[in-house]
Amino acid sequence: MNAKSNIRSYWDWRSQTYGNTVYKSQGDAKQIWKTALNDAIRTDKTNKTDETDKKLNILDVGTGTGFLALIFAEMGHDVTGVDISKHMLEKSRDNADKMRLDVDFMHGDAENLPFEDETFDIVINRHLLWTIPNPGVAIGEWSRVVTSGGKLMLIDGMWHDSAISMRLRRFLGRMIVFMTEKRSSRRFTSYYSQVKDQLPFFSGSNPDAVVDMFNKVGLKNVSVDNLEKIRAYENENACLSYKIANNPSLFMALGEK
Ligand SMILES: C[S@@+](CC[C@H](N)C(=O)[O-])C[C@H]1O[C@@H](n2cnc3c(N)ncnc32)[C@H](O)[C@@H]1O
Repeated sequence: MNAKSNIRSYWDWRSQTYGNTVYKSQGDAKQIWKTALNDAIRTDKTNKTDETDKKLNILDVGTGTGFLALIFAEMGHDVTGVDISKHMLEKSRDNADKMRLDVDFMHGDAENLPFEDETFDIVINRHLLWTIPNPGVAIGEWSRVVTSGGKLMLIDGMWHDSAISMRLRRFLGRMIVFMTEKRSSRRFTSYYSQVKDQLPFFSGSNPDAVVDMFNKVGLKNVSVDNLEKIRAYENENACLSYKIANNPSLFMALGEK
C-alpha cells in the first residue's frame, strides 16, 4: 500500500469520530475562529461596498468534516472543500445539510488539485501539512489555484513533538480518550507507523519552514500569526485529552499572491 492509500484508509475510519469531542461548545469555538479568520481573509475584494462583490471564492484543502469550510459558508462566502477520504466527505456533506449550507465538497488530492490556475481568492488548510508526503509540491499546488491578489493560509502545529514531556502528555491524553471515548490509538499507530518516514512534517510543522516554502513559491508579504486567542480559547475550552496532548504550538502562515 502506498502512503496515500494508507492515509486515506486511516481517515476513512477516523471520520466516524473525528472532531466530535474537541470543543465543549461548537458554537463558541466557531465564533472564535470566525473572528480570527475574518481579519486574515481581508483582500481588496472584501473592502468593496456591494455585498455581492464582497463574496470570496474559498477552497478548504483536506476539509475533513468541513469545520472551516462550513464557517466560511456561514460567513456568506462561496466555498469548496476537498478531501482524499470519501467517508470524511460524507460527514462534511451531512454537516452542511444539517446546517442548510451550500458547500461544494469534492474528492481530490491536495498535491494534485482538480482546478484551473487562479480559481480561488483564498486557499486554506488546517491540520493537513503534517500528513502530506511532498509538502513543497502541495504548497506549490495550493498557490497555483490562488488568484493574483488572493491569499494562501495554512494552519498547523507540532502534533507529534518528540520531547519526553510531550510524549508523556500524549500518552496521558490517549489514556483519557480510551477511558472517556473507548477509542484506542492503535489504528493511528498501525497506519501511520508505516508511512511516517515519508512525511517530512509528521512531528509537526514549524512556522519558519512554512514561511520558507511560501517564499519559494513566490508568495508576497508572508507572515505568521500565533493565533493567541484561539490558543487561549482551546486552553480553556477544549476537552481534557486535547488540552493535555497538544502543546501550544498552533500557528497560521499567510501569504499573498
Ligand atoms: C487532521 S484532519 C483535518 C481536517 C480539517 N482540515 C480540520 O481542520 O478539521 C486531516 C484531513 O486531511 C485529509 N487528507 C489527508 N491527506 C490528504 C490529501 N493528500 N489530500 C486531501 N486531503 C487529505 C484527511 O482525509 C483528513 O480529513
